[in-house]
Amino acid sequence: MPVARTDPARLVAFEVLRAVSDQDAYANLELSRLLRERGVSGRDAALATELVGGTLRLQGSYDDILDRLVKGTLQPPVRDALRLGTHQLLSMRVPTHAAVTTTVDLVKEQIGHKPSGLVNAVLRKVAAQDLESWLTDRPRPARTAHPAWVIDALAEALDRPAELDALLAADNERPAVVLVARPGLADVAELGGSALAASPYAVELEGGDPGAVPAVREGRAGVQDAGSQLVALVLARAALEGDDQRWLDVCAGPGGKAALLAAIAAERGAGVLANERQRHRAQLVAQGVRAARAGVLGVVTGDGTRPPWSPGTFDRVLVDAPCSGLGALRRRPESRWRRTAADVEELVPLQVALLDAALDAARPGGVVLYATCSPVVAETAGVVRTVLERRTDAVVEPALDLIGDLEDAESAHLPGALQLWPHRHRTDAMFLSLLRRR
Ligand SMILES: C[S@@+](CC[C@H](N)C(=O)[O-])C[C@H]1O[C@@H](n2cnc3c(N)ncnc32)[C@H](O)[C@@H]1O
Repeated sequence: MPVARTDPARLVAFEVLRAVSDQDAYANLELSRLLRERGVSGRDAALATELVGGTLRLQGSYDDILDRLVKGTLQPPVRDALRLGTHQLLSMRVPTHAAVTTTVDLVKEQIGHKPSGLVNAVLRKVAAQDLESWLTDRPRPARTAHPAWVIDALAEALDRPAELDALLAADNERPAVVLVARPGLADVAELGGSALAASPYAVELEGGDPGAVPAVREGRAGVQDAGSQLVALVLARAALEGDDQRWLDVCAGPGGKAALLAAIAAERGAGVLANERQRHRAQLVAQGVRAARAGVLGVVTGDGTRPPWSPGTFDRVLVDAPCSGLGALRRRPESRWRRTAADVEELVPLQVALLDAALDAARPGGVVLYATCSPVVAETAGVVRTVLERRTDAVVEPALDLIGDLEDAESAHLPGALQLWPHRHRTDAMFLSLLRRR
């Protein structure tokens, strides 16, 4: 075995990229696993995180450049190494010499001597221009690092075509670490960082490890995008006449919104029943709501389309539906390359069935919030419209008054519903539609 010369951050990043390419691994999960196993922390962990996230988000642009420089097919491990080197050269401030040498050494160690000459030569050519020059005049998918079908779906969802490039650029940025201070359990002031407009419980961290924040370790706070916090808030803020004790989260795993809802419910003497179809995700929910247990009615594993609960039982119901996730591309760096248009078509019938069942679960006068971390019209406004065409006992209620100062947040595809955008609101592109059971 050669003596490893590659630094731990680059080695971890390369292994994560290989697992994503070869085994369909989820980058975030694989990255945390390897960082933990190798004891990589602090600045090295931050470097590995940037290398993985940045390389994967911009993969389409880097491949466009590499394919112009290499004649013939690249072995997948060599391509991954070249992507990693290209990211350092074109998007990070790594000096050319360091980016090239570390990548060549990595290739020698992890793949073999043979391709190292090619990698050296290609990376020197990559370094000859900056990213902007490489991508000027390229077709939009290459220039913006988004598959063409994703661009089309986002363009259809966005009400202002002039903002499309700003949206695609926002998808390519490293997401800020945002924490939620769960009310009654933690205070925003104890989390450090700066407040965010989208949610009164949100704090954006400058950097560092959120796991080092005591309130996060104790489950009184958590990592949660401000748009996701708003989902729980809108449901909790909707006006209600009569009973307000029983709340339901139909698709609760892994539990971020259930934990916030439970904290709010506890303050009001209400409780949340958290349901999730997958057992291991239901276990994550149970762990996540521990600190807010005063606001938890229970955590159950079940299919929300064939629920065990009686109809008309709940005062407030959340359906945070399984979706394409095209509104959270910043956070799931590989997903844009893995998802297909067929996934959206497959999800729609399940989303319709879940919303239908959620309306059945609400009592007359009760509210249901349908949410997705996707702006795609078919799985947002399309789902709500389909359900409302079938039943006469539900109406969409305007939710704009429930979200404070956020501007330009009304959905262009369903009056009354909300559509957040990363480039406008600095949140994931969450869709929220509030419905009331008549
Ligand atoms: C978008 S995620 C929910 C995220 C969650 N609300 C949170 O804030 O952490 C959708 C969840 O729905 C679950 N799911 C999918 N089909 C379901 C079904 N038929 N019934 C209940 N849950 C389902 C998935 O396993 C997934 O955990």
